[in-house]
Amino acid sequence: MNSSPVDATTTTAWNKLAAHAVNFTPDLRGWFAAEPQRAQDLTFQIADLHVDLSKNLLTAETRSLLTRLADEVGLRERIEAMFTGEHINVTEDRAVLHTALRRPAGASPALHVDGQDVDTDVQAELAKVFAFADKVRTGEWKGSTGERIKTVVNIGIGGSDLGPVMAYEALKPYVQAGLEARFISNIDPTDLAETLHDLDPRTTLFIIASKTFTTLETLTNARLAREWLWRELVASGSEIKDDDARRAAVARHFVAVSTALDKVADFGIDPANAFGFWDWVGGRYSVDSAIGTSLAITIGPENFRQFLSGFHAVDEHFRTAPWSENVPALMGLLNVWYTNFLGAHTHAVLPYAQYLHRFPAYLQQLTMESNGKSVRWDGSKVNMETGEIWWGEPGTNGQHAFYQLIHQGTRLVPVDFIAVANPAHPLQDGEADVHELFLANFFAQSKALAFGKTADEVRAEGTDEAIVPARVFSGNRPSTSIMAPELSPAVLGQLIALYEHITFVQGAVWGIDSFDQWGVELGKELAQQITPAVSGDAQALKEQDASTRALIDYYRAQRR
Ligand code: F6P
Repeated sequence: MNSSPVDATTTTAWNKLAAHAVNFTPDLRGWFAAEPQRAQDLTFQIADLHVDLSKNLLTAETRSLLTRLADEVGLRERIEAMFTGEHINVTEDRAVLHTALRRPAGASPALHVDGQDVDTDVQAELAKVFAFADKVRTGEWKGSTGERIKTVVNIGIGGSDLGPVMAYEALKPYVQAGLEARFISNIDPTDLAETLHDLDPRTTLFIIASKTFTTLETLTNARLAREWLWRELVASGSEIKDDDARRAAVARHFVAVSTALDKVADFGIDPANAFGFWDWVGGRYSVDSAIGTSLAITIGPENFRQFLSGFHAVDEHFRTAPWSENVPALMGLLNVWYTNFLGAHTHAVLPYAQYLHRFPAYLQQLTMESNGKSVRWDGSKVNMETGEIWWGEPGTNGQHAFYQLIHQGTRLVPVDFIAVANPAHPLQDGEADVHELFLANFFAQSKALAFGKTADEVRAEGTDEAIVPARVFSGNRPSTSIMAPELSPAVLGQLIALYEHITFVQGAVWGIDSFDQWGVELGKELAQQITPAVSGDAQALKEQDASTRALIDYYRAQRR
């Protein structure tokens, strides 16, 4: 499977898609008029997700060529290779098994990979996380002064932060009363200072989340948090006189999540209070592993199980559904169509659900750390565009900011809209149901993008001829609408798995290893080299390029 990727550009489907693109004239108005079944034909139900692809720029021919492309690049085999634990993360020589994290207990046939009984290990670790979560939730777990925990502070970055914070924010209505989670990720000391300033150390539990347990930001923040704990406990009346007392405080207020449990012990956290996962879980695919401990504590094991079951439902769909109705495959292939044939550079995700306000940020790591690559998994250079820039903000805020460009700009920006039918907070404004006012915007935006407004329609409104051009909407701007009954833990799991697999499909077509992230390394190395120069080491400063040296000089001159 890992020998050499198929060069997609050499396939028949790719070449036919290229020819198809040359004469491609999107006409959503015409297509909807000519095909009364279009909305139904292109709307799919996947678990609780209702996904309408009909306002995308595709004809029956586009769809058939895209699914042929999937076959020609070996997408089916690649999916099986992932699910069965082949080492498709080639540059790190690892299996890619986040799908194993959400297999139900007792799933059959059992999954054994590289000599590991994966199912047994996953269930055992989950049981450990859940037992701990229950102890915190019931108050059985106490801080060093005997008080129950009220605030869980997750310290992590990248995949050890974005997933947990996004999911916590999304599932706030499920959080147990009297518990809250906070998140520290940035090494900017402001992040820690602002997050901790009003916390009571006696009721605070830190979760140090780091797959490698070497990440500079996380370890620095963990040390600062430990200092804060000792200092603030003393300030609130505890006696912490010696190392034993310090260790005892850490034992009640610090737990860790990592694949490197030896390093956790070196930090001073009792391995009994550490939760593990495995190198076959990529950081950005890890929210459903022990990395989700902050979530398991706050929403509880039962809701966390629902979350996992949501992922699993989409995994099964992705693995088994034919391309014609395989939603992650179709959405991933559409993204290839837009990126490689219609010239799109970015993709917007616009949730009409305030609780999903961190979802676009989460997707940025998932998609861009996965597919922002210029070489294929065999080291050869790619010969097509890869990885779009993913971005977004919740509606309706975005409408009053950047939607102008999406509606009338010169660039093609495919959009995914996400909304739920039932709000967590049903409110009335007089006679009006505010969620309905909100959703009217959700429905209106995809309609406006797809069908636009012609010059004649603008004129018919009595618009002054001079400003008619400015008020025309071209239409034919593609969007996908995703709806669900409500933002439950299961639905959130389904949404995440949907985008994980969309990302996978694109990576498979482009022939890239979507599971490594070497592009983040150089900056980290240079930061280490530059640190002495920033602190005043003349030799280290001399070794810098002229621009960097001047910037550091400026900093040193300004710093009080
Ligand atoms: O720097 C990128 C990265 O390696 C991400 O892939 C990862 O999610 C993040 O850093 C945090 O890494 P860790 O969980 O090992 O601290």
